[in-house]
Amino acid sequence: MAHVCPWWFCYTFDNPLRRLVHNPEVMLAPWVRPGMTCLDLGCGMGYFTIGLAKLASPGGRVVAVDLQEKMLAALRRRANKAGLSQAIEPRRCSEDSLGLGDLAGAVDFSLCFWMLHEVPNLAGFLGQVLEATQPQGRLLVAEPRFHVDLKTFEAELSQAEALGWRVVERPGIWGSFSAILSPRQAGAQGVGQPAAA
Ligand SMILES: C[S@@+](CC[C@H](N)C(=O)[O-])C[C@H]1O[C@@H](n2cnc3c(N)ncnc32)[C@H](O)[C@@H]1O
Repeated sequence: MAHVCPWWFCYTFDNPLRRLVHNPEVMLAPWVRPGMTCLDLGCGMGYFTIGLAKLASPGGRVVAVDLQEKMLAALRRRANKAGLSQAIEPRRCSEDSLGLGDLAGAVDFSLCFWMLHEVPNLAGFLGQVLEATQPQGRLLVAEPRFHVDLKTFEAELSQAEALGWRVVERPGIWGSFSAILSPRQAGAQGVGQPAAA
């Protein structure tokens, strides 16, 4: 397995103080509406999953995907505590497959927060997310500045663009290089706007 964030390391950044710089509901509100189908890819212990599920409710859901069962177990506990288990579907994936076949063209919003640099087969990964995304859908990619340099981040975006994604926005997110991407065939329509609920 490529280097992935160990479960215990998550506690260094997934803690209550993080809300001061990354408030999930405030940060993701521009792109997520009630009723949406969302993906939290590399969800870890679900720091963003809970906020995403609140924004997508009522009527929406978050499929939260991670390689590590320990991360998903922590997410299940948090979802139960928050009363959001109905809106959150934890899914364990493999490095080869995200297991999104049932979601082809159905996803409105996806999040890859501080995880893309851990993915060994970026083309395979981003291609699967593209297949799952509806034409006006959005993908938010954020990479940690303390770990990923700008050149690497731009290379990730170039690879995404070569696959059929298009960068439509550059939001400012604390401690991160970040971009909003959309399927290229969406063209100029709705650039910078959230997908319709
Ligand atoms: C640094 S943690 C970030 C967790 C969360 N997104 C957050 O911001 O709190 C990265 C997570 O991505 C997961 N991950 C790494 N490679 C992955 C892959 N190919 N597919 C799915 N998850 C992956 C790791 O298991 C880990 O939980």
